Amino acid sequence: MKGIVLAGGNGKRLHPLTIAFSKQLLPVGNKPMIYYPLAVLMAAGIREILIVLRPGDLPLFREILGDGSPWGVALTYAVQPEPRGIADAILIGAEHIASDDCALVLGDNIFHGSGFGRLLQREVTQVKGCTLFSYQVTDPHRYGVAVTDADGNILEIQEKPENPPSHRAVTGLYLYDNDVVDIAKYIRPSARGELEITDVNNAYIACNRARVVELSRGYAWLDTGTPEALLQAGQYVRTLEERQGVQIACLEEIALRMGYIDAEQCHRLGRSMAGSAYGRYVMNIARELGADTVPDRAG
Ligand code: TTP
Repeated sequence: MKGIVLAGGNGKRLHPLTIAFSKQLLPVGNKPMIYYPLAVLMAAGIREILIVLRPGDLPLFREILGDGSPWGVALTYAVQPEPRGIADAILIGAEHIASDDCALVLGDNIFHGSGFGRLLQREVTQVKGCTLFSYQVTDPHRYGVAVTDADGNILEIQEKPENPPSHRAVTGLYLYDNDVVDIAKYIRPSARGELEITDVNNAYIACNRARVVELSRGYAWLDTGTPEALLQAGQYVRTLEERQGVQIACLEEIALRMGYIDAEQCHRLGRSMAGSAYGRYVMNIARELGADTVPDRAG
């Protein structure tokens, strides 16, 4: 399965922060926002990832993330000239997707919870049509909302409904089979001039080829699109990290645990940031998991 991270958009709700600077590179806790969606794809076992971004943002992304090889993944970039909608990323990424399935994740979404990686690893191997993830929220009118029948089968997704039919929002992580490229070609821009991902999902639902996985309240799903949400997400991450002594969305740790890199490489990556608590955490993880292969504390 191929991955796509959407890191374009206007970021209007975060102006003036995002006038000249990419929203997805803003800090959430101690790392750039894009680490979190990248962590989701990497933990799902996806290693070929396209990042869709705004014109002008490429140099910084390259400086921060490079080609992904230090983490054992392949990162490529594509510019979206205008924010023409989330489904536009499928058209932009058609060559990248080629004949594969595809996972699309919004660059400003944060997912967290014990076992989430394992859940995704299961889901990515069994996509028939599309797989969506829903989550209970207090403000469903801000999202796509799933309408289900009494048996929990999905009937429709309503985009930002005034009177939401339920509190289950469709999150910004979507798994598709290869038909998604043809479906994205077929949909037309909405009244606000965007290719809506909800139209793609409704096309799958209309032919009974959509499945919704309900994320329980044991998971966290946060978006970071407003100043309040951005601060809250940062506080959530820091609170858990400080309390538990573990890092959320530590790409080096995920790469090591998934077997994309070995402990020595992980240690090297940590050492290059040894001036930060993050770097020292990475070195410790490499020592913990690498037992004999990594130098001791003096190394
Ligand atoms: P949104 O939060 O819906 O839009 P936005 O980021 O442009 O923010 P605002 O509403 O404040 O102007 O986008 C969700 C994610 O998808 C976000 O990471 C940006 C990304 N995106 C694109 O990459 N291209 C697009 O055309 C759109 C609409 C969004």
